[in-house]
Amino acid sequence: MRKLIGVGVVALGLVFAGSAMANDGASLYKSKCLPCHGAAGAGTAMAPGFQGSAFLKGASKADIAAVIKDGRAGAQKKYKKFALSMPPWKASLKDAQIDAIADYLKTLASK
Ligand code: HEC
Repeated sequence: MRKLIGVGVVALGLVFAGSAMANDGASLYKSKCLPCHGAAGAGTAMAPGFQGSAFLKGASKADIAAVIKDGRAGAQKKYKKFALSMPPWKASLKDAQIDAIADYLKTLASK
C-alpha cells in the first residue's frame, strides 16, 4: 500500500511538471532557446543575447511572437555572423507557449 501511494505521488508530480512546462516561459526558454541564446539570454556564438536588447525593448509582444513563430535570417548586418538562422517554432510550440516565452524575453531584456 505504501509503495502504491509513493507511485501515485510520483505520477502526480509528473502531471504537475508537465502542466507547468506547458505555459512556463522560463522552462520553455531553457529547453528550446538556451542552446543558442545562452543562459538568461546572455547570448552565445550561435545567436544574439537578450539582456538589454534594443529589439526586445522596442518590439511589441506581437512582434516578438512573430519572430519566434516564423524565424528570421540576417535581419541586421550584425546578425550575419551567426552560422544558423533563427528557426521557426510555429510547428512545435502552441501560441500560448510562444506568448509565455515572449513575456519571459521581455524580463530578460530589462536585465
Ligand atoms: C539554432 C539556434 C537558435 C535557436 C535554437 C533559437 N534561436 Fe532565436 N535567433 C537565432 C539567430 C541566429 C538569430 C538572429 C536572427 C537574424 O539573423 O535576424 C535569432 C534571433 C532571435 C530573436 C530576435 C533578436 C533580435 O535581437 O532581433 C528572438 C526574439 C529570438 N531569436 C527568440 C528565440 C526564442 C524564443 C527561441 C526558443 C523558442 C529561439 N530564439 C531559439 C538562433 C536561434
